[in-house]
Amino acid sequence: MRQQWFDDARFGLFVHFGIYSVAARHEWVQNYERITDADYRPYFDHFDPDRFDAAQIARTAKEAGMGYVVLTTKHHDGFCLWDSKLTDFTSVDACGRDLVREYVGALRAEGLKVGLYHSLIDWHHPDFTVDWVHPRRDDPNAGELNTGRDMARYRAYLHGQVRELLTEYGQIDYLFFDFTYPEHKDGWAGKGPEDWAASELLAMCRELQPDMLVNDRLGIPADFVTPEQYQPTAPLTVGGVPQVWEACQTLNGSWGYHRDNMDQKSPTLLVQMLADSVSMDGNMLLNIGPDGRGAIAPRDARTLDEIGQWMLLHRDAIVGAGHADFTPPREGVYTRRGDRLYLHLFSWPLGFVHLPDLGDKVSFARLLNDGSWLKTTVSDPEQQASHMTPAGEAAGTLTVHLPVRRPDVLMPVIELTLKGL
Ligand code: GLC
Repeated sequence: MRQQWFDDARFGLFVHFGIYSVAARHEWVQNYERITDADYRPYFDHFDPDRFDAAQIARTAKEAGMGYVVLTTKHHDGFCLWDSKLTDFTSVDACGRDLVREYVGALRAEGLKVGLYHSLIDWHHPDFTVDWVHPRRDDPNAGELNTGRDMARYRAYLHGQVRELLTEYGQIDYLFFDFTYPEHKDGWAGKGPEDWAASELLAMCRELQPDMLVNDRLGIPADFVTPEQYQPTAPLTVGGVPQVWEACQTLNGSWGYHRDNMDQKSPTLLVQMLADSVSMDGNMLLNIGPDGRGAIAPRDARTLDEIGQWMLLHRDAIVGAGHADFTPPREGVYTRRGDRLYLHLFSWPLGFVHLPDLGDKVSFARLLNDGSWLKTTVSDPEQQASHMTPAGEAAGTLTVHLPVRRPDVLMPVIELTLKGL
């Protein structure tokens, strides 16, 4: 039952923030541009998150209908957002603030579950060996760079930092490790679970925070799996066993603030993705990358606000809902919560929507946005002959009659009360 709150919440906010937000061109900028530590340093020296307002982030998540938030404590560049005693590459050193402490306090004040993201990868640590994702991989002397680097020392650092996070900040509900890449590539080794001493690390998580959910990116199975930037097409299983899963999604393809990236997803697409995930028993973790001053970018705030307006009216079709064992019509997907079946309409058909096999199973149908009753009829195979009226549906089909005008919401939802439940 460790994940009951997580299954119920269905919708969370991912927050990627760090000194790469000042670079403003993707959180992988150091890797993409092979930036040296010295050339990356100005983003640390000039880190000034005067508009990072944890309370505002927590409120925004709450108003968007989310149940939890996940903040990057450290990304691949190694910069730490908390008061780590094991390095001086922290927000406390850069600007005098423990952003993780501000964040956990703000989340708890809003009654939200507290999630942390922690990078296993660390391009700043001198013992972290160069590999095919490391910014130094193409240096002329790259072959010699691993001399003297000692992953055992890095492992001690990694475990020590995770211990700090799991002991100094009260209850942590969720931990997202990132990530493991055992493949060899371009003449370099990757990194597998043994590089992190993954089993020991997971055991420490269990010991320090027994109720905390841990993701699968240590490279060993844990509590949930994490499809990234794609939508599965069926409930996820491994070897036939259903998995708890959460798709993490960006607003524009970048996790960290990327000023010039205009690939913004529409609020409509995002609520469709959310409903789609819930229809397959999954969660959606939607990301924002606060800007170089720590503020939620206006374009992202607008999107979250629109999603929040939709969630205000349609929350019951998402929170506490999951997969429904009925075949949806071609216009959308179903979610189900107890005796309620919700049809999320991705497209708005003319006049009728036909629901296979629901003929005798529904006692009431209404639009969820305004609670307005919708007439229903059960198709009668006797009338099929003429094709003059919408009677050509298979026996047992429930036809819901719709207004011509689509309700003015991002995605209309029809709520069907199932009989006898
Ligand atoms: C990735 C990326 C990364 C991002 C993460 C979110 O694996 O390395 O930058 O933080 O996924 O899921």
